[in-house]
Amino acid sequence: MTQNRRTAVVTGGIGGIGTVICQRLAKDGHQVVATYHPSEEDKLGEWSKAQEALGLEIGLIGGDVSSAEDGARMMSEVEQRFGPVDILVNCAGITRDGTMKRMVAKQWDAVIQTNLNSVFYITKPVWEGMLERGYGRIINISSLNGQRGQFGQANYSAAKAGMHGFTMALAQEGAAKGITVNTVSPGYVKTAMTDAIREDIREAIVGGIPMRRMALPEEIASAVAFLAGDDQAYITGANIPINGGLFMH
Ligand code: CAA
Repeated sequence: MTQNRRTAVVTGGIGGIGTVICQRLAKDGHQVVATYHPSEEDKLGEWSKAQEALGLEIGLIGGDVSSAEDGARMMSEVEQRFGPVDILVNCAGITRDGTMKRMVAKQWDAVIQTNLNSVFYITKPVWEGMLERGYGRIINISSLNGQRGQFGQANYSAAKAGMHGFTMALAQEGAAKGITVNTVSPGYVKTAMTDAIREDIREAIVGGIPMRRMALPEEIASAVAFLAGDDQAYITGANIPINGGLFMH
């Protein structure tokens, strides 16, 4: 099957995994738009220069995925400037780790809003268009820790597990309409998020990974590109683990 040039949006598009997903989709010939949080504006100049140096043209639109109103405004701006969205990668996510004993509601709420509720806020504005056009690829970036739970991440594990519930429900709604909805669940990936884990804990985590290393963001991006392809029309509602053998089921 021929690959058409599609319009792709990647939320958290200037982050550790998001940037590399944008690059990969752009290299595959798609028109790509990265969304970023307004607080990241100071990073945009350097980020754009890095993409230009690779010969890649990637659109940028700011907005807060954890807000229903701002998320809808952002996605409407994306469609006005770049046209209908064919591929949506929900990649924006944060951690606010802490044991249950210490976790406060603010940490819980921030992670549920940004990692889980955002998926509804951002998908909703493009869903009807996908149904009307009879085509769509939605890829939700979840986590190993949503599959198996993680000490110190009750908030994050709950949000990431919830994402896959959303995937499975929406996959059923899109199945007869040309829309696939899938989850990709990375394990520990070398990014600023995992750099923030205390060094002794990080070393212990890596020691427990059968492959004895973290994933590279490119290894996540290649699975996303596979699921985003025109020719990958029959995988839907799946959860693809990319964790170096850390969790198998
Ligand atoms: N299982 C069981 N017990 C554990 C444990 C584990 N995995 N980790 C720590 N403990 C125990 C400790 O041994 C310690 O026990 P004692 O009180 O008996 O000595 C107790 O729990 C407290 O541990 P800490 O000293 O670590 O507690 P802390 O309050 O200083 O730190 C924490 C808590 C911030 C949650 C810290 O443990 C931590 O950073 N853990 C790693 C969390 C993690 O994996 N985050 C992933 C971030 S990356 C990401 O999220 C991306 C992705 O998708 C994978």
